[in-house]
Amino acid sequence: MTKILAISGSLRRASFNTALARAFAAHAPAGTTVEVATLHGIPLYDGDLEAAEGIPPAVAALAAQIAAADGLILSTPEYNNGMPGVFKNAIDWLSRGGVAGGKLFAGKPVALAGASPGGFGTILSQAHWLQVLRALGMRHWSEGRLMVSRAGKVFDGEGALLDGEVAAQLGPYVAGFTAFIGK
Ligand SMILES: Cc1cc2nc3c(=O)[nH]c(=O)nc-3n(C[C@H](O)[C@H](O)[C@H](O)COP(=O)(O)O)c2cc1C
Repeated sequence: MTKILAISGSLRRASFNTALARAFAAHAPAGTTVEVATLHGIPLYDGDLEAAEGIPPAVAALAAQIAAADGLILSTPEYNNGMPGVFKNAIDWLSRGGVAGGKLFAGKPVALAGASPGGFGTILSQAHWLQVLRALGMRHWSEGRLMVSRAGKVFDGEGALLDGEVAAQLGPYVAGFTAFIGK
């Protein structure tokens, strides 16, 4: 069994990226599970807070989910042509020495995906992530990237997937990433 954790980089209740992460879970092929994580409760990174109190509980909880996963899918929004600060902030906390000796991400397989109401489906945000993934020493699955554009038509208000063409991409995407994890 391959365990994938899909992390949504949006806190929004009706987030398209959380909906996408859930859709991966719903379309996982046999032999693969996709769990969904969000970033709720993670404070802004503050070195003084870290020195006084250590790693916040919400960060430690997400770190445990990541450590238990064979691979990660980052379901990332795009803000101003880059990754959202909320998502980068969480990764910054998770990269600290108080979390798995600063090696939580080293060698961990990772795939990028994202959804946007615009026409380019987070392409620039996904490109922006690449330098961070390299800094973290992650194993990036470069063959597979999924960009969901016009997300307002792809998902309904409850986050249910309406678009058959997008739905048809999800199973092969998760299967491809699973094969990459196994290599
Ligand atoms: C500050 C801000 C900047 C944004 N910049 C972009 C952008 O550069 N490209 C884009 O496609 N969408 C942009 N958007 C729109 C987001 O894609 C949209 O809000 C999307 O719904 C966010 O993801 P979510 O649904 O998972 O919360 C921006 C939104 C915000 C709030």
